[in-house]
Amino acid sequence: MNFDRVIERRGTDCEKWDLLHELFGREDLLPFWVADMDFECPAEVKEALKRRVEHGILGYSYPGEKIVELIKERMKRKHGWSIEKEWIVFTPGVVPAMSVAIRALTHPGDEVILQSPVYHPFFSVIENSGCHVVENELVLDNGSYRMDTDALGRCFEPRTGITPIERRIRAMLLCSPHNPGGRVWRREELEEAGNVVTGNGAFVVSDEIHCDIILKGRHIPFSSLPEFEQNSMVCMSGSKTFNLAGLSTSFAIIPNEEIRKRFMYTKKNLVQEPNVLGLVALEAAFEKCDPWLDELLSYLKGNLELVKRFFSGTDVRVIEPEGTYLVWLDFRAFGRSDRELRSALVDSGVALNDGYLFGKAGSGFERLNIACPRTMLEEGLERIGKALERLD
Ligand SMILES: Cc1ncc(COP(=O)(O)O)c(C=O)c1O
Repeated sequence: MNFDRVIERRGTDCEKWDLLHELFGREDLLPFWVADMDFECPAEVKEALKRRVEHGILGYSYPGEKIVELIKERMKRKHGWSIEKEWIVFTPGVVPAMSVAIRALTHPGDEVILQSPVYHPFFSVIENSGCHVVENELVLDNGSYRMDTDALGRCFEPRTGITPIERRIRAMLLCSPHNPGGRVWRREELEEAGNVVTGNGAFVVSDEIHCDIILKGRHIPFSSLPEFEQNSMVCMSGSKTFNLAGLSTSFAIIPNEEIRKRFMYTKKNLVQEPNVLGLVALEAAFEKCDPWLDELLSYLKGNLELVKRFFSGTDVRVIEPEGTYLVWLDFRAFGRSDRELRSALVDSGVALNDGYLFGKAGSGFERLNIACPRTMLEEGLERIGKALERLD
């Protein structure tokens, strides 16, 4: 696979490139925002899709035995996790899966915890389900985020005030690996947070969409921890791993039978089965494309080194990701507002995700997507260099 190859994406109704004017006010920017990759998907996936399209009938379809077996086998091989095939529930995306989960687990007016800064749809997943967000901010310690489990525990304490009421926290949305902080949570961290949440009677919904993009450490599916098997679920996909996000195919793994039934009931008639081509692509990817993934990871590590080298000696602090292809950049040393940061970047020709979108703890940060050919990243960094001069 030649990850250096630059492929024109403009004119393909591609969010990342074709919405630049609408979202950033200029068309001539280099985009490093939304989390998809400027790389071609694996050749085996393209071949499988071509064969399926050649058949010519693209009617209703369903996830067959083979994809279910491949997921089961993958969980065992990559994570040492033995799952039952009944635990797998297909969804058209991880965000819809989390929305269904929150609707299935809560009543309007309930509360759901998230740990910010975090992938911004977590907020709307909770709020659009009629629930309230309880924000437990992560702590940035020595250039790396950690969960504040003491504060997490305090979220569950009864509220004091004029009319004290019991808190009704039903769930926590976990982002693992973490977007945007790039943490690959260690077992002890998952256990500590999991004990607090489940010990207080709440359920963990773990978004593990980035679980294959591991640059350092080892990913542990939350529900593979035996103590949390029955009070958690995970949401996964091949979309980040193999760049298939436009094919709307993902799956949840829900070991708890009662919760799974509630999830399926809530999903019925509301959320489609995954896309016919998405299933074909996922099957080919999971069956044949792990060597491609190994090459991808080594290319991403090269890109990350470039980013670290570029920013060393500047006032931008790189929060080095252990997972994901997203680099969280700390611009707070410039003492500028979020609006000034954005203007300096856009005026210099780049589109990044503004940190404040990930919660107020993200103010002063920007998220840089490094899943692109190296020449594009080099050009982008040069432009960011110009932004730094504007900010100085
Ligand atoms: C943490 C996280 N969850 C979910 C998604 C989107 O998932 P989907 O497109 O499957 O709804 C993204 C995409 O950037 C993400 O980073």
